[in-house]
Amino acid sequence: MIFINFKAYKEAFSRKALELAKIAENVAEKSGIYIAVAVNYLDLPLVAKSVNIDVFAQHIDPVDFGSFTGAVNAEMIKEYGGRGSLVNHSERRMKLADIDFCVSKLRSLGMKSIVCTNNVSTTAAVAALKPDFVAVEPPELIGSGIAVSKAKPEVVENAVASAKNICKEVKVLCGAGITNHEDYVRALDLGADGVLLASGIVKARDQKKALEELAGLI
Ligand code: G3P
Repeated sequence: MIFINFKAYKEAFSRKALELAKIAENVAEKSGIYIAVAVNYLDLPLVAKSVNIDVFAQHIDPVDFGSFTGAVNAEMIKEYGGRGSLVNHSERRMKLADIDFCVSKLRSLGMKSIVCTNNVSTTAAVAALKPDFVAVEPPELIGSGIAVSKAKPEVVENAVASAKNICKEVKVLCGAGITNHEDYVRALDLGADGVLLASGIVKARDQKKALEELAGLI
């Protein structure tokens, strides 16, 4: 499984978000790998109705409908075609009680939760909330081009073991610095169900070629 987080990169918003999502759809079709994208709120409605892969939000606020100025909740994301959301990304950390609220809310709406964590202990803690996915990403490697699966294989292995020990159904992703097919295969070899990545694809000179290489097509 490959999840691509478009973040707020200039290479992946507006028209470029749609183009990259279409590339992801094409590579998913050709490779048979589950590929999903996480896009910004403004692009989500158009991207979600234009591609046949799952489209996620990058964050949701832990609120219901009501007097919450500036908030975007899970119901809104669902209404516009989003299949779920990242929760607690390192660049958008949340309190444990709010993570729990978001995971429960997404579950009750039939949507998927991908909760990000920064180390093995927080991965175990989050697994207790029973999200669909937990994605371990050492913050110091995010955006570095140095793959967690190569630089810190023990983090991936231990995160997988501790998460599955707490909740055997939870799927474990790893992220930070994942760039190429070798990084991806190593992550799977370490027991991860997939990877969550951003800059390796979004900021590549040739995004299509980069994703085809990551997926092992070229
Ligand atoms: O959400 C994915 C992310 O934080 C990893 O970023 O750029 O290291 O792939 P990157």
